[in-house]
Amino acid sequence: MDLTKEINKIKEDFLAEVNIVKTSKALADLEVKYLGRKGEMTRILRDLKNLAANEKQKIGSLANQVKNEILSEIKKVTAVVKGETIEEDVDISRPGHKIEVGHLHPSTQVQYELEEIFKSMGFMVLEGPEIESDYYNFESLNIPTYHPARDAQDTFYLEDGNVLRTHTSNMQVRTMQKYGAPVRAVFPGRVFRYEATDASHETTFYQLEGLMVGEDINIGNLVATMKEIFSGIFNKEVKVRLRPGYFPFVEPGFELDVECLVCGGKGCPVCKKTGWVEMIGCGMVHPEVLKFGKVDPKKYTGFAFGLGMTRLVMLKHEIDDIRLLLSGDLRFLKQF
Ligand code: PHE
Repeated sequence: MDLTKEINKIKEDFLAEVNIVKTSKALADLEVKYLGRKGEMTRILRDLKNLAANEKQKIGSLANQVKNEILSEIKKVTAVVKGETIEEDVDISRPGHKIEVGHLHPSTQVQYELEEIFKSMGFMVLEGPEIESDYYNFESLNIPTYHPARDAQDTFYLEDGNVLRTHTSNMQVRTMQKYGAPVRAVFPGRVFRYEATDASHETTFYQLEGLMVGEDINIGNLVATMKEIFSGIFNKEVKVRLRPGYFPFVEPGFELDVECLVCGGKGCPVCKKTGWVEMIGCGMVHPEVLKFGKVDPKKYTGFAFGLGMTRLVMLKHEIDDIRLLLSGDLRFLKQF
């Protein structure tokens, strides 16, 4: 029999057989019979190499076409046998594919929660620039060029002399210059430091700064405000401690620590095995800083604080490695 006829016969036989197939087992047998290692089409395709060049091309293309027809027929019938709908037969009554909806990053969630608490206490929520002049990031905060406090906040310097802000304190003088006194505002945002990264250090993290300036503002107001935030954020009593802290832009200055909620105060990588996490730097705004803000230090006083928002997120959710927060890893993010 000539090969063309033989191929067409194979195709006919196949179509006749596939038409009466009822089970996936029978279909699988059929596939083996035609396309398996010793299958009929396989034999034809293998023998192509013995043909003369002009024959090879003609017969080869027919053989391949038939092989593909058999394959696609098997695919279609597979769907039928399994009780599935064939592609071209769209069932518009079936439920559609679920589209996954994203959600806010845990840091953003905490930021929004804090903003709500502060708004309820009459604070404005402002945003500041992440690329900042040396003046607002250091100079106007009583940190002149020669001051050793600059070493503690090494950062990324840009070629034009600006810096990536090391803290949200850059907004203190900006705010006083713009709004004068009295004023209440918080500034959440991203800050940058030159850090070797580890479980508790990142080059990029979030702070929330607060500033309250008015007549007769005192440390009592500061402590009361801090207490309010923590009970609002943790919904439970959290142990805190206040110790003296040095920041050139406040006097007196404090560090407020929170008992480590990840390990319950026993010691872990997050609290560097001390049981306490430094959460807030704060104090009464230094008279020099008020002056930079064009506020009269004889008439007004104020407090400022810088809250480590990233640390707060870690404590709230018991996250023991800061690097997870910027990893973009969905296995992590989907937990919140
Ligand atoms: N800016 C300080 C820091 O990043 C924190 C701070 C803010 C301290 C305001 C006192 C007052 O470490």
